[in-house]
Amino acid sequence: MKDRILIIGSCGQIGTELTIALRKQHGAENVIASDIHAPQPGSGNDIQLDVLDHEQIEKIVKECGITQIYLLAAMLSANGEQNSDAAWKLNVQSLLSVLKIAKEQKLDKIFWPSSIAVFGPDSPRYNCPQQTRIEPNTVYGISKRTGEYWCSYYFEKHGVDVRSLRFPGLISYTAPPGGGTTDYAVDIFHQALEKQAYTCFLEEDTCLPMMYMPDAIRATLELMNTPKEKIHIRTSYNLAGMSFAPCDLAAAIRKYIPELKMTYRPDSRQAIANGWPASIRDDQARKEWGWNPEYNLKSMTADMLQKLSKIKGMTIPETISQQGDFPDFPIDNHIFAKAH
Ligand code: SER
Repeated sequence: MKDRILIIGSCGQIGTELTIALRKQHGAENVIASDIHAPQPGSGNDIQLDVLDHEQIEKIVKECGITQIYLLAAMLSANGEQNSDAAWKLNVQSLLSVLKIAKEQKLDKIFWPSSIAVFGPDSPRYNCPQQTRIEPNTVYGISKRTGEYWCSYYFEKHGVDVRSLRFPGLISYTAPPGGGTTDYAVDIFHQALEKQAYTCFLEEDTCLPMMYMPDAIRATLELMNTPKEKIHIRTSYNLAGMSFAPCDLAAAIRKYIPELKMTYRPDSRQAIANGWPASIRDDQARKEWGWNPEYNLKSMTADMLQKLSKIKGMTIPETISQQGDFPDFPIDNHIFAKAH
C-alpha cells in the first residue's frame, strides 16, 4: 500500500522544506499539505486546516486515506511565554488529537518534533545527554516534554508508531522562524546582507545547539524511514548539529562581510536561552539509525550567505565567492572555555 501523508503546519519554517522533501520521496499526489493559512498561489499548501479542529483532521484522514501525519504546527518559546494558554492548547491539544486519530484510524506512522527546550537550568549545560534531569522552565518546554510523554504513552499502550526528534535551533533561508529564542541565528544573515549591522537579542557568549535545515530535513526522513524495531526512544531523540554563540556566528559571517557591526541588547529571550544547554549529545540517534550531521558553522554560513544573497538579488561580495582558506572557529574552545 502507498503511503499517504498529511502535513499539518506546512507553511512554517520546517513545513516549507519538509513538504518539498516528502513530495520528492512519496510523489506530490500522495502528500497533502495543510496550514492554518488559506492556500495562496505559490504557498505550497493544498488546504486550510485548523489543527485544533479534531473533526476536520479526522475527516481529511478518512477521505484522503491518510497513513502518516507530520504534525508541525506549534507555538515556539518566546511567543509561548507571552501567550501561555494559547501555546499550551496549540502544542498539546493538537498532539493529543493526532495521536487519538492515529490510534482509532490505525495510521502507520506519526512524526512530531520536540525541542532542546525540554531541558532546563538543572540539565547539564555541556554535552547534555538523552537521559538526565529534564525540568523545563518555559511553557514551550513544558508542552514539548509533556508531548514526549504522550508519544511514549500512545506507543506503549496503543501501539501508535510515533517518532520524534528534539530539534536544536533551526537555521534556514526559506520561511522565517516564528517566535523562538534561536531566531537571531536566522535574522542576523538577513541584516548582515542588507545593513551590515545586527542588534542581537542574546548576549554575545550565549552558546546554544543549532542545526542547518537540510540536516534537520534529512534527520526527519531518516528517522521516518528506519525500521520500527530499531527505534528504541519513544519520547524523542536528542539531535545535534553544531553549537555556537552569537559572537561565533558574527565571526563566521565577517569572513565574508567584514563590515558587520554587532550590537548586543539582550531582552526577555536571554532568560529562556540561559535555561537551555549549550551543546547536546546525540549518541542514540547515531547508534540506532545512523545519524550524522553534515553541516558545521563554517559550511552552514557559506551556504546561507550564498543562497540568501541570490534570493535577495544581491551581488555577493568578493570574499563570499572566494571561500578559500576559511580558518577554524573556536567553537569547541568556546564551549571548552566555558565548561572548564
Ligand atoms: N527554536 C526553538 C525556539 O527557539 C527551540 O526549539 O523556541
